[in-house]
Amino acid sequence: MPEFVGAVDQGTTSTRFMIFDHDGNEVAKAQLEHAQILPRSGWVEHDPVEIWERTNTVMQNAVREGGLSASDLTAVGITNQRETTVVWDPRTGRPYYNAIVWQDTRTDSIAAALEREGHGEVIRRKAGLPPATYFSGGKIKWMLENVDGLREAAEQGHAIFGNTDCWVLWNLTGGPDGGIHATDVTNASRTMLMNLETLDWDDELLGIFGIPRAMLPTINPSSHAEAYGQARTSRPLRSAVPITGVLGDQQAATVGQVCFATGEAKNTYGTGNFLVLNTGTDLVRSEHGLLTTVAYQFGDSPAIYALEGSMAVTGSAVQWLRDQLKIITTAAESERLASTVEDNGGMYFVPAFSGLFAPYWRSDARGAIVGLSRFHTNGHLARAALEAICYQSRDVVEAMEQDSGVHLDVLKVDGGVTANDLCMQIQADVLGVPVSRPVVAETTALGAAYAAGLATGFWRDTDELRSHWQESRRWAPQWNDEQRDEGYAGWKKAVERTLDWVT
Ligand code: G3P
Repeated sequence: MPEFVGAVDQGTTSTRFMIFDHDGNEVAKAQLEHAQILPRSGWVEHDPVEIWERTNTVMQNAVREGGLSASDLTAVGITNQRETTVVWDPRTGRPYYNAIVWQDTRTDSIAAALEREGHGEVIRRKAGLPPATYFSGGKIKWMLENVDGLREAAEQGHAIFGNTDCWVLWNLTGGPDGGIHATDVTNASRTMLMNLETLDWDDELLGIFGIPRAMLPTINPSSHAEAYGQARTSRPLRSAVPITGVLGDQQAATVGQVCFATGEAKNTYGTGNFLVLNTGTDLVRSEHGLLTTVAYQFGDSPAIYALEGSMAVTGSAVQWLRDQLKIITTAAESERLASTVEDNGGMYFVPAFSGLFAPYWRSDARGAIVGLSRFHTNGHLARAALEAICYQSRDVVEAMEQDSGVHLDVLKVDGGVTANDLCMQIQADVLGVPVSRPVVAETTALGAAYAAGLATGFWRDTDELRSHWQESRRWAPQWNDEQRDEGYAGWKKAVERTLDWVT
């Protein structure tokens, strides 16, 4: 009797495979980074073939390092960086172009034209998203317009689209030899092409983007016993393990953090930050710059919706200090450097490298460091980078409270940056509410495993999953209201300085 569930987490900077036991504990993990291809300012690409190769390797390594065999896995789930767009030839498995990553801003003029031509309202109403470079629809349109012969190929059924969940699934289930071309509702809800009410591709939206329906995968629930098929024995696991869960990484983290009740929320700190609030079966339309999205759909149950605040550049601002400015050698060092100063000394850093996402949605914004004087040091800059993560989160929390009326009593956090104690303390100070981190910080992979294991009956129901959640650390606010208000006012002023930069 198989005792474990596996999960592929195909993220922006790396791919991992994790194996969990029945109590939701991590049993084995392997992880590999892939190249960030930056051909021009604002462009970010990945090589889909490299991603698939890395996926193969991490699956095999995790099974081996855990001392297991793939037949010990009752099911596998897949979670992924959302929106990143792959288009490939189903006859050969060859991509027509590198994957265009969610952070890429090349579709700026496409997004602006959608607004100018009056399509913004229908996209917001049907897809729950504002026209922006972030989502897949504009990226597919760009490829159709810029890759030689791609439109003809797409019209003849020789070019299919997927986010990286779909790319990994298609390859795992056979590739050109019968691979399954499917995705789940959460990933589809990030394309600008799915109707949030029908949970199907929408002809009017497809018409606006000029995208042939034949390119698109079948949309399934996030947790399903049959819809995603089985891994082929010719593929890396060498065992016909059923694939029974697929969901975007932020939705997976929401599941991993067991935010199953309306009003429960989590904030994941990675390259970007993503705050997701469960709104139940209600489709809440944001009036304050948040996205309406699908949180998850388990089997035949109705879809559960969410409000999301997506912040494009948070942890990656710390990577920028490391890789570009070279003032630290590891991301973890940002904590030590930032601790050399008591506060930001009036300096703010707004890392609007990809424009500003929620709640501003300003692709014309670019980064700024303001309030500089000769007094400032690298320590202040490191502190300002950590504060930027926390202030962006506050912007989103405020928008969420206004949209939903839900007041957060505590913020559940996860992701790599939550290992930074100082950053988490600043987060509690800036928000004025406690911040709580669970024992299993890998909530994204855990959530995909939960979705897969629920479908096969490995886990009975969401109450059972809830019983696994345990707090490992909590940070209480230490600032008084005056400090909090002053600090936030400075941030808002700094954000103003970044707008209207690109014309
Ligand atoms: O929407 C983008 C998000 O899914 C990326 O997450 O953790 O891969 O940076 P991550």
